[in-house]
Amino acid sequence: MSINISSLLESRTACEKADAADPLANRREEFHLPQGLIYLDGNSLGPMPKKALEHLEQAIRNEWAEELISSWNNAGWWELPQTLGEMIAPVVGAASGQLIVSDSTSLNLYKTVHAALGLRPERTVIISEADSFPTDLYILEGVTSTQQNIQRRLVGVDGDSLDELLDENVAVVTLSHVNFRTGELLPIEELVKKTHDAGALFILDTCHSAGVLPVELDKWGVDFAVGCTYKYLNGGPGSPAFVYVAKRHQQAAVNPLSGWWGHARPFAFEKDFQAAEGIIRFQTGTQPVLSLRGLQAGLEIAQAVDQKLVRQKSQRLTQLFLELVESRCGEYGVTLQSPTDPEKRGSQVALHCLNGFAVIQALIARKIIADFRAPGIMRFGFAPLYLRYTDVWDAAEALTDVLKTEEWREERFQQKHEVT
Ligand SMILES: Cc1ncc(COP(=O)(O)O)c(C=O)c1O
Repeated sequence: MSINISSLLESRTACEKADAADPLANRREEFHLPQGLIYLDGNSLGPMPKKALEHLEQAIRNEWAEELISSWNNAGWWELPQTLGEMIAPVVGAASGQLIVSDSTSLNLYKTVHAALGLRPERTVIISEADSFPTDLYILEGVTSTQQNIQRRLVGVDGDSLDELLDENVAVVTLSHVNFRTGELLPIEELVKKTHDAGALFILDTCHSAGVLPVELDKWGVDFAVGCTYKYLNGGPGSPAFVYVAKRHQQAAVNPLSGWWGHARPFAFEKDFQAAEGIIRFQTGTQPVLSLRGLQAGLEIAQAVDQKLVRQKSQRLTQLFLELVESRCGEYGVTLQSPTDPEKRGSQVALHCLNGFAVIQALIARKIIADFRAPGIMRFGFAPLYLRYTDVWDAAEALTDVLKTEEWREERFQQKHEVT
């Protein structure tokens, strides 16, 4: 598939016109965006929805300060994981009762991998991809190191494709919808089908897709899914993740982190564990109420927008950036790492450049925020709810200038920080 953005390539004025006609343009007003900043890092941490302040103020001043412990009942604190889960459900194509917000993506992946292995007790292999986000690999390493009969096979190490690795020993396949480095988007429906044909279960990591492109967990037959809320769902730094367990597995699925929040009768304080019915059994312990309350505003926005419109704009934004960069920056050793086909690309553009780290620092100094992932990858995230076509134009111009003038060579742009 190709996207025709030729009119936008002509001039900044053409981009201004596209902004004026953009059906999502008003959404930008709902976010706090620092003056003069072009924020291309929503694939790492989304900006603050203005309403988050109201929710947090209410949660702190009234619910915590005044009402104290009664807020567990009166302000809906206890049910927040489910309430927020129900808000995310339509955004990722899940019917009610299958999703909760709880813990981190890493923890939820651990829970779902164990649960899936338990549903395929006669099988011993977990498949993932060598280029997965490292936490996904580390969690699998944790599982295989504690369960002696379980092995990990990686696409990219043990074989070139899922087809090569699938056989009757495979219990679980766990893949990311969008690759965190390159932005490559996988055809999940097709991969789920292959996995099921081989008798295995499928776990999807939606960290880089939830909130920015259509996800159809139920329709695609995904068995379990996890995802974070601090990227395209704009939930705030460290906002809790979500976990989806398809209804058909909920009765038999066992959460290995069997804490009191997943108990059938938590306030009976019984000595033995009995799992709650449904998705609630995937809860473990007390959740960070303030973080959950901070997330609510981002989800209100996500619920209100048409994901198809978001996807359309996202494809146009990434296409525009990619074509502008290709025509201007090729001579400076910049190569595209993301798929050229917009149907195979998430909402980010990855560019390789030997001096990528310093180039990104120079852009940040110009108030254009993107990030760097070793080795040599400059990541530019395009979140359609608050970015404009003119932002894309300006970012491409600035990148070209940084490369052309070799501004990135300045000493101050070589200093490494803990977070890149
Ligand atoms: C694909 C993917 N999975 C997982 C994570 C992070 O998981 P956690 O929220 O547990 O740190 C990220 C973070 O960027 C990610 O990109």
